[in-house]
Amino acid sequence: MTVDKRNENNVGYVKINNPPVNAIGLSIRQGLLDAVSWAEENQLDRVIVSGAGNLFAAGADTNEFDYPPVEPHLPDVLNAIERSAVPWIAAINGFALGGGAEIALACRMRIMSNSAKIGFPEVTLGVIPGAGGTQRLPRLVGLEKALDMITSGRPVNAAEALSVGLVHALHDDVLDAAFKTNIEQLLSCVPTSKLAAPEANSEAITAVKQRLSRKSKGQSAPFDAIDVIETGLTSEFDEALATERQTFLKLRQSDQAKALRHIFFSERAAAAPKWLKNVSPLSLEHVAVAGGGTMGAGIAYALLSAGLRVTILEADQEATVRANTNVNQILEASLTRGFINEISMTEIRSRLSVTTDYASVAAASLAIEAVFESMELKKSVLESLFKVLPPETTMATNTSYLDVNEIAAHLPDPTRVLGLHFFAPAHIMKLLEIIRAEKTSDVHIATGFKLAKILRKTPVIAGVCDGFIGNRILARYREAADTVLLDGSTPHEIDLAMVEFGYAMGPYEAQDISGLDIAHANRRRQDATRDPKRRYIQIADRMVEQGKLGKKSGGGWYQYSSDGKQNDPVVIDLVIEEARAASIERRDYSSEQITDRLLTAMINEAADILNEGIARSASDIDLVTVFGYGFPRWRGGLMHYGDSLGLGTIVDRIETFAMEDPIVWRVSPLLRRCVENNLSLCDIGVKDAT
Ligand code: COA
Ligand code: NAD
Repeated sequence: MTVDKRNENNVGYVKINNPPVNAIGLSIRQGLLDAVSWAEENQLDRVIVSGAGNLFAAGADTNEFDYPPVEPHLPDVLNAIERSAVPWIAAINGFALGGGAEIALACRMRIMSNSAKIGFPEVTLGVIPGAGGTQRLPRLVGLEKALDMITSGRPVNAAEALSVGLVHALHDDVLDAAFKTNIEQLLSCVPTSKLAAPEANSEAITAVKQRLSRKSKGQSAPFDAIDVIETGLTSEFDEALATERQTFLKLRQSDQAKALRHIFFSERAAAAPKWLKNVSPLSLEHVAVAGGGTMGAGIAYALLSAGLRVTILEADQEATVRANTNVNQILEASLTRGFINEISMTEIRSRLSVTTDYASVAAASLAIEAVFESMELKKSVLESLFKVLPPETTMATNTSYLDVNEIAAHLPDPTRVLGLHFFAPAHIMKLLEIIRAEKTSDVHIATGFKLAKILRKTPVIAGVCDGFIGNRILARYREAADTVLLDGSTPHEIDLAMVEFGYAMGPYEAQDISGLDIAHANRRRQDATRDPKRRYIQIADRMVEQGKLGKKSGGGWYQYSSDGKQNDPVVIDLVIEEARAASIERRDYSSEQITDRLLTAMINEAADILNEGIARSASDIDLVTVFGYGFPRWRGGLMHYGDSLGLGTIVDRIETFAMEDPIVWRVSPLLRRCVENNLSLCDIGVKDAT
């Protein structure tokens, strides 16, 4: 962890060297400050700063955020660079993010590699740029672009960085270009803080705030960033810098920043489990996808986008036409939205074939079945695949609920079978649950993780149970919602409470989108094993019987019109009728009472999932809830949220609710153990070493 310095013909080469991402911790800050003095003492002509490896620098070392700040602070280091008698050039050789981008802004000149990206992702970690970014960036790119970059956290590529004035030039060899830059030209660049701040523009600020009030509702950092940027439009640079620093330090300790850091590190831990590090995955080139419906087409598109070759197998000729149409629709939508162009669309299309002929996948390296949710059909499709695939091929099922052990046991070699549970739309949703059946061997699990990496998805390993991690929690969530519905609320009140908590939509609107028939079919499958003593709420079943399947049938829990969604009086009557039949005296629930019940139910279920070893860690469950089910990321996922509430509080709540219904509300043994031993859920988990 060093800053390397080299004097070559009076040019100082300074390299930030802190693998793997050149995060800027204490020793890097100190090293940069030392480099300022070194360059001045040696009266160098210029300093060229770059990053070791293929990155410039990925920002402040977030591991330091849990501890008090230690001098020298980055804003002071950057002021020293900017005010130095020796001009500094940033040779941006790769990602320059957060504090890395701020270093570049403090240099006189910025030369960027054509393949690099620069940006300010701080809000995604619950903070704002803390070393001048909120003040220098608007001076370079203008108010609107700076607001956009800082509040979205999205980095820009080299072409855009040049076009908005963020960098001076693009080159493939940035060190050489920086070396060859004419000294007059370099000295003519005005230090960024000396440029005039943009004009105050309340309209632009209001527009961004309005946009964020929908997109980033509940989050502090983007709004704080706007306030600090606004301060800088009318204050002296140093004064605004002090405000920025104060805000940054306040946010760094906030619950939201802690929650977002938890998700950031959980994601990285999940992507590369230590227990799999010595297992080599199989190579992935050609993938067979059985079923080209909603999921199969989305999975195929995701695979194609990642450069793989895909063969979709369908049931008959008519179905191949439908599957082709399904993939084409996704391609067209991606083209319209500018994600791909005509040329790449043609190239992607050339790697896809759709057929009924199983022999055409005889050389595939992975097979994923995504046919209807039927045990018999899945067994028979996988059996047909088994007969034609090479003997080492990984065979996956995308089942939502079915028993992967039973599916695997049906095949001659169950060690090759696992679940790859994608989420709809499969080419967009980041979560991939990797379901390990009893006999799945590590090599196929490792292949699942490799696939997640290729597809840029977040993998979470889960054991076999009804619904795995995500759908099992979802089932409990819906059951708790239906209970509150029957006992006193409306779908709208329940949805609103969850939206106020931070979900993009509540459970009823979500069901209207996914279709009530899927959960209905699943409940019928569970009829035989359901505990007859457990309270069963029939409202959703009756809705399906009446043809209210959600948006696809013209309405479900809500009526839909051009004015949006409204409560459906027929549904409300149905709820009241069911309550009357069950002799329930309905009562009002506040938003808080609704969220308390729904979230407590989910946390308790998730604790059981962890206790049973279905999930390996609480942070894996957090990733499932955030990336698959819309739990607000800034609350850190379900388990982190449970920990932040206090597990004693959760247990007290369950015991109170149990007075109404002791069968449904049973404290998870894990929650009790945590409370007794003063542990948090995030302390629990199968240790990676085991
Ligand atoms: N501080 C500390 N550690 C960091 C870090 C940071 N700012 N950024 C990344 N890391 C660590 C990761 O935790 C990971 O550690 P691990 O190997 O122990 O799991 C390692 O660096 C590699 O990161 P990863 O994200 O897996 O690498 P990548 O090549 O896929 O992506 C980046 C590289 C830079 C694009 C990505 O790491 C990133 O976006 N980092 C965050 C940047 C940021 O938000 N900076 C602002 C901080 S306020
Ligand atoms: P779908 O009805 O849209 O598609 C199923 C496809 O399978 C159809 O195209 C059908 O023609 C094809 N098919 C049927 N028999 C076949 C056979 N013998 N050989 C090849 N293809 C055959 O269903 P879907 O929503 O895509 O769901 C597929 C699977 O994915 C199910 O197991 C489902 O539980 C699971 N899943 C669905 C979602 C979701 O939200 N839709 C999410 C995750 C997982």
